[in-house]
Amino acid sequence: MPSAKIYYDSDADLNILKDKTIVFLGFGNQGAAQAQNLRDSGLPNDKIIIANRQDHYAEDAKSKGFNVEHDFSKAAAAADVLFLLIPDQVQPRVFNEQAAPHLKDNVTIVIASGYNVFYKLLNFKSTQDVVMVAPRMIGSSVRSLYVKGKGFPCFVSVEQDGTGNALSTALALSRAIGATKAGAIASSAREETAMDLFAEQGLWPNIIMLFREAFSVLKEAGCSDEALCYEMWMSKEPAEIFERAAEDGFIAQLKHHSTVSQYGQLNGSLKLDGTAIREHFKEILYNQVLNGKFCQEFSKIEADLEKEGDENPLNQLYKKSEESELGQAEKRVRARLAQLL
Ligand code: NAI
Repeated sequence: MPSAKIYYDSDADLNILKDKTIVFLGFGNQGAAQAQNLRDSGLPNDKIIIANRQDHYAEDAKSKGFNVEHDFSKAAAAADVLFLLIPDQVQPRVFNEQAAPHLKDNVTIVIASGYNVFYKLLNFKSTQDVVMVAPRMIGSSVRSLYVKGKGFPCFVSVEQDGTGNALSTALALSRAIGATKAGAIASSAREETAMDLFAEQGLWPNIIMLFREAFSVLKEAGCSDEALCYEMWMSKEPAEIFERAAEDGFIAQLKHHSTVSQYGQLNGSLKLDGTAIREHFKEILYNQVLNGKFCQEFSKIEADLEKEGDENPLNQLYKKSEESELGQAEKRVRARLAQLL
């Protein structure tokens, strides 16, 4: 596999965006950050429209001096560029019904996550451009790093090149929101979705399981709830380890630990046989994520996620997870700590 191309400010020409009407459908985490960055990059405010239903996000956009349009079809009709920045699960319905029928034939549609494009849940005309500009940061960081004059990691790709100019438009937009300052990595909706869903359904469930089981084994050996909670996560040691891993290196961060710890971690991890987990990971990646099985299953329960109480499948999963020894112990420890405050 060749190294990914990385695009910088010098690869992007902001002039391409001159005279274009840019619509942000959504002014939430990403929408608010990206719209402000784009405006601060010199794009005129009268060419920016925030399309938002009447809610506190719309009020926020107004308070920041943006033009807000509540009628999505009107905003879509005016758009040369449409940033699709509403939650992934509502995008197919809202975009397909309220925006898509009114969009220009040569519009550029910008997505910030690969999910709906990879699973073909959005309706585009073949003449339209579809590009991905997907920051790898929460919106508040997208904004605060831009304000500090710094860049942020971001994936960029062309998913459909209807006009023949999709890449230059994607790069100009990436630069305008501050994403090419530190380098935007060439990616794809497939790659972004594969990595994102694999982490959510393969990697992190295993990490949660490892903590849960480790907790039970140590508790059985006589360790107290309080000591375990602090030792394992409440001290923030795992957060620090990952911060060091990002800064110094995934392996090199171990050098901050004691010699006994370094020896134990390196020797222990090398002795573990990864064959079974590798097969399990492949099963998740190929037979759950990439083949669309998860997407199909998730779409069946999506409507139930709006429900209250036990009828909401997410609430059921929380309830079950909190029944674990780890969950119960943490509840007791936190209640005790609250009494001390
Ligand atoms: P969000 O949850 O902050 O979205 C809120 C916005 O969506 C508001 O403007 C709200 O009015 C609008 N909205 C919500 N439900 C709606 C509905 N039913 N109909 C019409 N408008 C509705 O969204 P967020 O987190 O900014 O995500 C937007 C996109 O950015 C998604 O594709 C997401 O995957 C991607 N992304 C998000 C990141 C994050 O930091 N949260 C990081 C990188 C990408």
